[in-house]
Amino acid sequence: MYDVVVIGSGPGGYVSAIRCAQLGLKTALVEKYATLGGTCLNVGCIPSKALLDSSEHFFNATHHFKEHGIEVGDVRANFTQMIQRKNDVVSQTCAGVKFLMDKNKIEVHHGIGSFINSTTIAVTGPEGVKELQTKNVIIATGSKPNFFPSMVPDKQRIITSTEALSLKEIPQKLIVIGGGVIGLELGSVYARLGSEVEVVENSPTLLGTMDGSIGKELTKILKKEGLKFHFEHQVQKVTNLGDRTSVVALDKKGNEVTFEADYCLVAVGRKAYTEGLGLDKVGISVNARGQVEVNDHLQTSVSHIYAIGDVVRGAMLAHKAEEEGVFVAEWIAGQKPHINYNLIPGVIYTWPEVASIGKTEEELKTMGIEINVGNFPIKALGRARASMDTSGFIKIISDKATDEVLGVHMIAARAADLIMEAAVAMEYRASAEDIARICHPHPTYSEAVKEAALGATGNRYLHS
Ligand code: FAD
Ligand code: NAI
Repeated sequence: MYDVVVIGSGPGGYVSAIRCAQLGLKTALVEKYATLGGTCLNVGCIPSKALLDSSEHFFNATHHFKEHGIEVGDVRANFTQMIQRKNDVVSQTCAGVKFLMDKNKIEVHHGIGSFINSTTIAVTGPEGVKELQTKNVIIATGSKPNFFPSMVPDKQRIITSTEALSLKEIPQKLIVIGGGVIGLELGSVYARLGSEVEVVENSPTLLGTMDGSIGKELTKILKKEGLKFHFEHQVQKVTNLGDRTSVVALDKKGNEVTFEADYCLVAVGRKAYTEGLGLDKVGISVNARGQVEVNDHLQTSVSHIYAIGDVVRGAMLAHKAEEEGVFVAEWIAGQKPHINYNLIPGVIYTWPEVASIGKTEEELKTMGIEINVGNFPIKALGRARASMDTSGFIKIISDKATDEVLGVHMIAARAADLIMEAAVAMEYRASAEDIARICHPHPTYSEAVKEAALGATGNRYLHS
C-alpha cells in the first residue's frame, strides 16, 4: 500500500513525488512514456529553450558579431547538429529526473495509469497490467496542444510545437497560427535561422492578457527580427498541399486572405489532458475546458484524490505545476502550505526576454485602484549599450495611496532573471520606495528596476 501514487511525471508530478518522499510518504510515480519529465522536459520548456539559445547564437554571429569587431567568415546553421544538441540536453535532463526518483526511493511504474476505484490504480504498460493500492492519488497528467476543426495538425506539414522542435529542415517559410507564447518563441527560433515567419493572430495585439505596453513593444522588436504579423485574422481553413500548406483566414473586413508556406505551426493554446485516466470510475468530472475541478487545497470531488499543474485551472506553467506539487505533498503530510497565485511570474523567452508579475495596468484600472507608474527604457543603461541589447523597458506599477508595488512588467535582456527581484519585493509587500533605496550593482540591467522604482515614486529618474 502506497501513501501516494502520482500519475504523470511532468514538473508537477515528479516534484510532488520528491516532496512526498522527503516527508516520509511511501510514493509511486506512474508515467505512460518511457522517459520522465513530461511536456516540460521532453517537448516543452527545455527543448524550446535549447533551440532558442542555439538560434540566438546563430543570429548574433550573423547580425551582431561584426559590430563587436568579430570577423567569422561564412557562418552556416547546421540544423541537424542543433536538433541533436537539443536532443542531448533533453536526454540529460530526463535522466536527471530518473536519478532524483532513485535517490528519493520513489518507485517508478511505466504505463498508462487509470482508476479502478479511488484507492486502486491500474498501470497498463509494456509488461502488462499491474495494480497499485494507495491512500492518496495526485493527478498530474498535464496538457496537450489544442486546435480547432479548421486547423487539424497532420504532424507533417501542419504541425504543433512538438513537431516544430524536431523538424528535419529549416522551413523556407513558416506560418504560425497564434501569436501567443509558443508562436513567438518558436517563431523567433525559425526567423533567426532564416525562415520567413508570418504570424496569423485573431486578436488586435500580441499577448492580450499581459500589460498592454508589452504587446506593442514586442511587436516592434520582433518585426526587426524579421517576423511579420497579421492581426485580426481569423483562420478558416488549413490544408496540406503535399510540399506546402495553405492557410485561409478572414481579415477584420471579412476579406478572405490566403497564405502559403512549407510548414504551418498551430499554436492556439493547450488543453488539459485526462484521456485514459478513467475519471468516471471515481465520479470525477471535468469542466467545459476539460480541466479537473479542484478546491483551494487542490482536492477533487473525492477528497483523497488531488490534481495539479496544467490539468487544473490557472497558468499553464512548469513552475506553477511545481508549486502545486509541493503544496499537495505538504497538505497530505498535515502541513498548512500556501501558494500566492498573484505572484507567479510569466516569462517569454524571446530576445530580449519578456517577464511579468502581479497585476497589469489595465487590470488595476478596471479594479478602480489609483496607481503610479515608473517606466525606464533599457537603452538608457550603460550595460545595455556595452552589450548592444538596448531594446525594451522596465515598468513598475505601485499603489498611489500606499506605494506598494502591485505589478512589474518588463522587456529586457535577462528579464527572466530580473523579474525575481520584483517577486521577492512583492512577496514581502515592498513599496516602490523600498526598491528605489536598494543599492543596485553598476553596470547591470537591474539598474533599470531601481530607475523604474524611482520613477514610480515621484518621477525621480536619475538617468532619463
Ligand atoms: P506535463 O508536463 O504535461 O506532464 C504530464 C505527464 O503526465 C506527461 O509525461 C504524460 O505523459 C503523463 N500522463 C498523462 N496521462 C497519463 C496517464 N494516464 N498515465 C500515466 N502518465 C500520464 N512552461 C514554463 O513554465 N516555462 C517554459 O519555458 C515553458 N515552455 C514551454 C514550451 C513549449 C513548447 C510547451 C508546449 C510548453 C511550455 N511550458 C513552459 C509549459 C509547461 O511545459 C507546462 O506548464 C508543464 O509541463 C506542466 O506540467 P505538468 O506536470 O502539469 O504536466
Ligand atoms: P497562448 O494561449 O499563449 O496563445 C494562443 C494564441 O492563439 C492567442 O494569442 C490567441 O489569441 C491565438 N488564437 C486562438 N485561436 C486563434 C485562431 N483561430 N486564429 C488565430 N489565432 C488564434 O497559447 P500557446 O502559445 O499555444 O501556449 C500554450 C501554453 O503553453 C501557454 O498557456 C503557456 O503558458 C505555455 N507556454 C509557456 C511558455 C513559457 O512560459 N515561456 C512557453 C511556451 C508555452
